[in-house]
Amino acid sequence: MSSMNTDIEAIKSAALQAIAAAKNLDELKEVKVSHVGDRSPIARANQGLGQIPAEERAAMGKVIGTARADINQSFVDREKVLTADRDSKVLIEERVDVTLPVNRNMKGALHPLTILSNEISDLFIGMGYTVQEGPEMESSWLNFDALNIPADHPARTMQDTFFIEPVSSGLVMRTHTSPVQIRTMLENEPPIYVICPGRTYRADELDATHTPVFNQVEGLVIDKGITMAHLKGTLDHFAAKIFGAEVTTRIRPSFFPFTEPSAEVDFFYNGRWVEWGGCGMVNPKVLQACGIDTDVYSGFAFGMGLERTLMVRHGITDMHDIVEGDVRFSRQFGTGAR
Ligand code: PHE
Repeated sequence: MSSMNTDIEAIKSAALQAIAAAKNLDELKEVKVSHVGDRSPIARANQGLGQIPAEERAAMGKVIGTARADINQSFVDREKVLTADRDSKVLIEERVDVTLPVNRNMKGALHPLTILSNEISDLFIGMGYTVQEGPEMESSWLNFDALNIPADHPARTMQDTFFIEPVSSGLVMRTHTSPVQIRTMLENEPPIYVICPGRTYRADELDATHTPVFNQVEGLVIDKGITMAHLKGTLDHFAAKIFGAEVTTRIRPSFFPFTEPSAEVDFFYNGRWVEWGGCGMVNPKVLQACGIDTDVYSGFAFGMGLERTLMVRHGITDMHDIVEGDVRFSRQFGTGAR
């Protein structure tokens, strides 16, 4: 009996030691198999009670039962401690540190002028126009002569035009997008409905309202029976789409060698008339120079500055912001279309 007692004591202390030594739940699981479960020494001792003489059985059963309860209790306690350990470790390891620096690589953004230019192209494509582009370095014949701008016209003096050396090359940086009109009419038969956005050049100093490199958008329509009413309707629609449904336009008599009659177009915005660009009915001389039968066809054209359009629409007061390429300016316009 006493040697049996000693065995149970040894079994119990081995189990308690193993339980205490388990450093994590995985180790504790192994300890359970060897010291707590159905095949553990204490469980076997319990199963062996049947072989013990009847008069010792009750006392021995109590010893084993108590030892077993102690082992179970110790196991449950250790399991609680190790579970709490594991949980707090998970909380630490999987913690999201909201103060960590974010990924500061910024996505590229379209320049606001590009966004506006795309917006205008989209709006005209929606009306059946196609987008035409032309070279920024242009023959002076297309930039001036074909547009009925004679050699002595002020626009041709050194003051306004960037000439390409040698001057005998006959090349200039285009001073407007109107040469694209000529290219389009030379290459296509009417009906013609085109919109031509692009970069243009004039020898101006960069200041709050001028830039030597700027952008224009040109519209050209050649078809049967085109009148100034079509021009006015198109300008009204254009202005309403770009500046707001309530915005209207007015045209004032003006002069351009390539349109006849010619007009300046203004739009009414924030309580005042704002100058927008030039327009008119394409001069029959220009149509004829492009081989278009003026007995059958007539057309209108208009051209306006994109920088000015952008400045008015967004209340930009300094041209430097548009041309200097500071990303903090572009970012205010987001990465996509307005
Ligand atoms: N090309 C003219 C300019 O740059 C604008 C314009 C375009 C006027 C089309 C009439 C028709 O000033």
